[in-house]
Amino acid sequence: TTTAPTFPETFLWGGAVAANQVEGAYDEGGKGLSIQDVMPRGIMAPRTDAPTPDNLKHEAIDFYHRYAEDIALLAEMGFKVFRFSIAWSRIFPLGDEAEPNEEGLAFYDRVLDECEKHGIEPLVTISHYETPLHLAETYDGWTDRRLIGFYERYARTLFERYGSRVTYWLTFNEINSVLHAPLMSGGINTPKNELSRKDLYTAIHNELVASAAATRIAREVVPEALIGCMVIATPIYPLTPDPRDVLAAMKADHANLAFSDVHVRGVYPGYFLRTLREEGLELSDLGATEEDLALLREHTVDFVSFSYYMSVCETATQEVEAGEGNIMGGVPNPTLEASQWGWQIDPVGLRVVLNQFWDRWNKPLFIVENGLGARDELVTGPDGEPTVVDDYRIDYLRDHLIQVGEAIADGVTVLGYTTWGCIDCVSASTAQLSKRYGFIYVDRNDDGSGTLERYRKKSFDWYKEVIASNGASL
Ligand code: BG6
Repeated sequence: TTTAPTFPETFLWGGAVAANQVEGAYDEGGKGLSIQDVMPRGIMAPRTDAPTPDNLKHEAIDFYHRYAEDIALLAEMGFKVFRFSIAWSRIFPLGDEAEPNEEGLAFYDRVLDECEKHGIEPLVTISHYETPLHLAETYDGWTDRRLIGFYERYARTLFERYGSRVTYWLTFNEINSVLHAPLMSGGINTPKNELSRKDLYTAIHNELVASAAATRIAREVVPEALIGCMVIATPIYPLTPDPRDVLAAMKADHANLAFSDVHVRGVYPGYFLRTLREEGLELSDLGATEEDLALLREHTVDFVSFSYYMSVCETATQEVEAGEGNIMGGVPNPTLEASQWGWQIDPVGLRVVLNQFWDRWNKPLFIVENGLGARDELVTGPDGEPTVVDDYRIDYLRDHLIQVGEAIADGVTVLGYTTWGCIDCVSASTAQLSKRYGFIYVDRNDDGSGTLERYRKKSFDWYKEVIASNGASL
């Protein structure tokens, strides 16, 4: 049976974006280059040597200049929370300098002013796929342990500057995606097919230590801050009931769960150590010291956050071609429909994952990304204003939110829900603007043309009603 969804009064409804996908102004305000400035095709093609004019992220949706107008639109929907990231290279243009860039810091002061003005709680991602390019090129990103120190300095700067105004912090966006997209996720310049397992696992260890170090600093500088980890949550189903498929699915799931196991429990799980052994590696080969392990043990997270777009299958018994899907990909599920980009749609999987995470970690959960990337058609609305009749997006979000309600009824503690790309932005995987997620349409196209005007879609009013009724209108 399905229960009418009941959300707690404190439930944080909102939406999410990332700096590199909305801000633009890639070389303004003293900002240094980030890896995104040489990724004009997202993860679909190798990086370029230098920034190229076809990179949509250079202007993105011009949030850098239009943040006040945009946050006012989010407020009009009744947003309780707005998740955004801070562009590391605005604060430390190279990443390894001693002093931060004041102009970059001042920009986020202004963003926070607007959030405060509208009573919107900020949820800040410290690192969202925008490692300073200099750190990628000079250190090969997170494969180098010196990044831990640079990240600590960056995180301390943010806590000191914004700590009195920000309660919710996420250390790394989708930390587990480094397994699949080493440059975008880990700032690792070495091409994926040339990257050794040792270097990949070293990068993972360094990021986990940096996350714990940031948590330690937050406890010292802003004791009331709540620190969360963030992973791609993709339930992995066995393709058939064959026990070998079940085991294959469990192993694939472990590869994702390992990250939050460390964040939450403070120790590397046995299955992870086994994977290392099978690669001929031990923790010490990754440069792990006793101090690192103590840091991981002592500075665990307050909550677990995740993105949820889809589930996948796994099999050890059949030859099946991996399907499309978010950064992870995976074996397609024959029972599910897919989006225009081949991402399979599975609302029930969200309830499954909420229960799995709650049962496993007993930490409050925060859904910080969910949504449908779709092509939208601009039409003239009844009031004469341009709009999009995006019933498909409403259906997707409603179906998922109903499952969140189910999980809450199952006893899971869920802090909030932020839809991905609440305002249209540049896609992370494909770098397109035509892959739209927003309640707000931004007039900009894949060829860079467009006025950058903002228009409310049908889903804008729908979400406004969902928030105003605290989910009762679902
Ligand atoms: C997540 C990322 O992987 O999914 C976002 O955290 C990203 O940055 C989102 O935009 C949707 O993916 P895409 O590739 O459709 O933009």
